[in-house]
Amino acid sequence: MAGLARTGFSIDPDLLERFDRAISGKGYQNRSEAVRDLMRDYLVSEEADKNKVVAGTLTFVYDHHRPNLTEKLVEAQHQAGSQVLAATHVHLDHHNCLEVVMMKGRSGAIRDLSNRILSLQGVKHGQLVITSTGKDLK
Ligand code: NI
Repeated sequence: MAGLARTGFSIDPDLLERFDRAISGKGYQNRSEAVRDLMRDYLVSEEADKNKVVAGTLTFVYDHHRPNLTEKLVEAQHQAGSQVLAATHVHLDHHNCLEVVMMKGRSGAIRDLSNRILSLQGVKHGQLVITSTGKDLK
């Protein structure tokens, strides 16, 4: 195939069989694409470890009735400046709000902002997902 390098490696047959079973359950058409995705995962986690520019989303649920929490959440995002690209808020029920903050910036700054938000009292649960900006991945 043009534009692709071919490679091979030795692997324990049991490990290979388990891997093939796992990826077929996820819908991969072939082993190559699954291995490429693992390599991309590794490279993105390297970028994040080295404080490179990444994209990230912070998803969290918080108590709508907690006094001053909404103001603190807005303040934290304002202080972060251009790292915050957008935020979406939905009212899950009378008591709970779900918010997703979309970010791009150095991984350290994105983690700092996420930690600042997640550690606020009244934020019940949340998770940061860091991914690539896509620029350096094929
Ligand atoms: Ni709400």
